Amino acid sequence: KRLAVFVSGGGSNFRSIHEATLGDSVHGDVVVLVTDKPGCGGAEYARNNGIPVILFPKTKSSPDGLSADDLVATLRNLNVDLVLLAGYLKLIPSELVQAYPRSILNIHPSLLPAFGGKGFYGLKVHRSVIASGARYSGPTVHFVDEHFDTGRILAQRVVPVLPNDTAEQLAARVLHEEHEVYVEVVSALCEERIVWREDGVPLIRSRE
Ligand code: GRF
Repeated sequence: KRLAVFVSGGGSNFRSIHEATLGDSVHGDVVVLVTDKPGCGGAEYARNNGIPVILFPKTKSSPDGLSADDLVATLRNLNVDLVLLAGYLKLIPSELVQAYPRSILNIHPSLLPAFGGKGFYGLKVHRSVIASGARYSGPTVHFVDEHFDTGRILAQRVVPVLPNDTAEQLAARVLHEEHEVYVEVVSALCEERIVWREDGVPLIRSRE
């Protein structure tokens, strides 16, 4: 499968997915990196690895960015099959959601539906988890719909919240699991190992 990865930040999930495509754990190729922050670590990693970088969306401060329609056309021209959000902070336009049904994934650093939605990103998520007194947290990989963090859940990993955790410590513990679980799910999607239960819940079949 041909993968487009969307990143706004450091891009450690992007990097772990890219590395997995170079080995044989993911049967796919990252063909383009889409970002709203051309100076971010993820974009730099892409440029250093010969992966083309596209700026999206077009805004006052990024007049060179693509419109939603042009983004969809560009991804289609590149024969992109799957879109992977990896720390991309902007809402995905409905044009893209509709063009790629059941083919856009996101990773979120909490056990959704808890601590998700607009405004829950970065350390804010982990601070809220700690403040709530929750004993467990962990990443969620889910399909993307037209809202923040509400698409169908595909996989989660449970991570303990320790009594004296700082948000940074919890973030690091969750991020470690993110790298593994995202690669696992992308590998399943690339191998068409997702089955949809009748009620609309997606399940991952293990390798035969
Ligand atoms: C991760 O915590 C991810 O769950 C969230 O944004 C962060 C991205 O980290 N959506 P990185 O850029 O992949 O290091």
